[in-house]
Order: sequence, then structure tokens, then C-alpha cells
Amino acid sequence: MNEKRSSVHGEWSSGLIFILAATGSAVGLGNLWRFPYLVGENGGSAFVILYLACILLVGLPIIIGEVTIGRKGRRSPINSLRLIAREEGLNQKWALVGWMGVIAGFLILSFYSVVGGWSLYYGYEALIGGFAGMTSDSAEGMFNGLVSSPSAVLGWHTLFMLIVFGIVASGVKKGLQRAVTLLMPLLFILLVGLVVYGVTTEGFGDAMTFLATPDFSALDGDTVLAALGQAFFTLSLGMGAIMVYGAYLPQENSIPVSTGWIVGMDTLTALLAGFAIFPIVFTVGLEPGEGPGLVFQTLPIVFGEITFGALLGVVFFALLSVAAITSGMSLLEPAVAYLSESFGGGRVKAAAIISALIWLLGAACGLSMNAWSGFHLLPGMTIFNTIEFISSNILLPLGGLFVALFVGWKMRTTTVAAELDTHNHHNLFLLWLWVTRIVAPAAVLFIFLNATGLLSVITGE
Ligand code: PHE
Repeated sequence: MNEKRSSVHGEWSSGLIFILAATGSAVGLGNLWRFPYLVGENGGSAFVILYLACILLVGLPIIIGEVTIGRKGRRSPINSLRLIAREEGLNQKWALVGWMGVIAGFLILSFYSVVGGWSLYYGYEALIGGFAGMTSDSAEGMFNGLVSSPSAVLGWHTLFMLIVFGIVASGVKKGLQRAVTLLMPLLFILLVGLVVYGVTTEGFGDAMTFLATPDFSALDGDTVLAALGQAFFTLSLGMGAIMVYGAYLPQENSIPVSTGWIVGMDTLTALLAGFAIFPIVFTVGLEPGEGPGLVFQTLPIVFGEITFGALLGVVFFALLSVAAITSGMSLLEPAVAYLSESFGGGRVKAAAIISALIWLLGAACGLSMNAWSGFHLLPGMTIFNTIEFISSNILLPLGGLFVALFVGWKMRTTTVAAELDTHNHHNLFLLWLWVTRIVAPAAVLFIFLNATGLLSVITGE
């Protein structure tokens, strides 16, 4: 029963590569684009505190659980869950959690690819010197010009999907491993550089006031749900991305240590993004609650102003695109791994079929901001907003809840402990186990029950 399997898709060459690849999945638009605008929209630091609590009490235990399931099963999430359920004498329907993840991955990658396309476009604008002399008005104009043009949005979305498809189709290992090793450190250095710049701007004081005075009265059930959804989104949890990467983790590497690094790097990147962006927001007099355009309307102003800004702009948006691509790949991988495991026909074919379907849905997201903006799936929400809300705030936490219940209550404790290799740290194991059993599921359920946004989705009102 406890025999060690290997993955048919190959394995990472080392535990370090797993950390880099999973960090590549975790660090993406969620940190640099989504986190700052959610902080801005949801009342600043009170949101940040909630988000950190969700990372620690819900995200960290669940990421350990996901990697445990992945490495034990060594297959796509659907087949790993099915296999482990069989071995542990459980209901095979647990595979449905894997299916839910595949659906969430489809939905997320569809809008993710649209925003990834925006990043590519901004990289291109930086390259042709488009940021020179940028003011807050012209930055707003550039962003609105992009999102209101169906052909531009579709074109850049198509390019992004093609790149992600190309990498996943040619096997994750080679190109990806190398790209991630080289580019993740560079992204980090650039972010630190931007923070240093932010400190010297006149808006720094206002930004600090905004980030250091938590207004807890601004919090309601919906804000808490947004913080929870963001914790799952940013850690790539609840849909099988980290699980499938865990399936490629060599047996000798420690799951708790690797996941600790991933969570730490991801959280640090998000906080740095906040420190880089809000000083600029206040300096140029933008509103923190600007929404999804926030990052795209702030950074170009800086790049248009500072020495070597043009070059830095190219590098930054290239890296933002790379961060988005390394996340996009992990969104595609669970479904591709499943299709190529189950139906043969090869990885290329599997990746092509799934990418094409996601491209279509993404096109609808992109058009919902211009040609189809009058069409609402949920009251007051475009297709883009609806898909973003349902996938991040509902499907991911729900997927994570089932993962917690599966490793916490359903799998034999001895199986889990063997995979986590915790003989020498029995107390830490027990702490993790009980947080996974009780705290994480209770937090998700409690937050669900208190969110009106969720209720209105369910009742359709
Ligand atoms: N974690 C990625 C980000 O922050 C997004 C993502 C979500 C990737 C879910 C994979 C799975 O940008």
C-alpha cells in the first residue's frame, strides 16, 4: 500500500525546482495586479490583516494538504484523488473535487489570459517608448483605450494563450524550469527597486497612512470573502495547480519546508507590490479604489518620468508577463495532465483542445468590457467580473475545503504522516492536522455564511 510511485509526466530535477515552479505558479497577476486593487477597493490595511490571517490559518495548512495528495497520487488531481480514495477505502466520488478544480482552472485562465494580454501590450508600449511624459490622465486614457478595443483585447489575449499553450504542450520541465530559475529572482529585484522609488515619492506618507490605519468598520461579510478568495487565488490553491506540481515533487524533499518557502515568497511579493504601488497612487492623485486598472494606470507614469524609465518599463512588464505566464501554465496543467493520462493522444493534442476552449471563454471575458458590456450574467456584473467572482471567491475556497476534509478526516493519518515524513516533529504534525481538520474548514464555512455576495449568487437576487 505504501509503495512509492513515480509520475508518468516526469518529475522536477530537485526540490528547489519544485519551489521555484510552485512559486512561479503562485506569484503572478494575483500579487501584482489583483492584490493592490483589492486592497484599494476594500479599505486598505484592515483587508491586508484579514488576508494575512487567511493565508496563515487557511492557506498554509491547505497547501500542505494539496501537495501531500499530489505526491501520494503522482497523477493529475482527478486521478490522484480517485486512486487515493480507492487505496484508502473511500468513495470514488472524491474525484469530483478534481473535476471542480478543472472547471475552476478553465474559468480562471479565461480572464487571467485577458489580463496577461494587457501585460504583454504594456510591455510592447514600453518598448516603443509609449510611456514618455505620461500623466495620470494619459495613463488612464491608455488603459481605457486598450480595454475598450475588442480587436486589441482579443489579439493580446490570443497571443498570451498561444504562449501558455506552447509551453505546456512541449512539456513543463525544460523551458519552464529554466525560465523560472532565471526570471523569478529578477522580478523580485525589480520590485524591491520600485519600493525604494516609492519611498522617495511625496505620496509615500499618505500611502503609509492608508496602509497603517486599519478601518475595521469598512469590513463586512463580502470583504472577508474577498480576502479569503484572494488567499486561495494568490497561492494557486483549491483547483489542483499546486496538487499537480506536487505530483512531480521528488520523494526525498520535505513538503512542509517547500510549501513554507512558497507561501513566504508569495506573501512577500504581494506586500512589496502594495508598497510599490500605493505611494505612486497618492503622488499622482489617483483613487486607491480604482479597480482592475490600478497597476496599469500607475506604473507607466513612473516609467515615463524616471531616468532609464523606458528600459525599466520594458523589463517590468516583460517580467509581469512572465509571472503571468508561469501562473497560466499551472492553470492549464491539471486539465492537460488528466486528458493525456486518460485518453492517450498525447500532450500536444490535449493542450490544444483545452487551450482552444479556454480561449473562447476568454474572448467572452474580453468582449464583456467593450462590445458586450451591456450583457450581465449576475446583476451589475460583466461576464469578466462574474467569472472572476465565482471562480476565486466560491470555487477555490470550496475546493480547498474539500481538500482539507479529505486529508484531515478521510485519509488515514498514518498515510498522511508517512507522506509528510514528520516522525521527528510529531507535535508540529498534530498542530497542522487539527488546524486542517477544524480551523480551516470552519473559517471557510463561516466566511461563506456571512457573505451576502455569495447568497445573491445562490439565490439569484
Ligand atoms: N496564483 C496565481 C496568481 O497569483 C493565479 C493562479 C490561481 C494560478 C489559481 C494557478 C491557480 O497570479
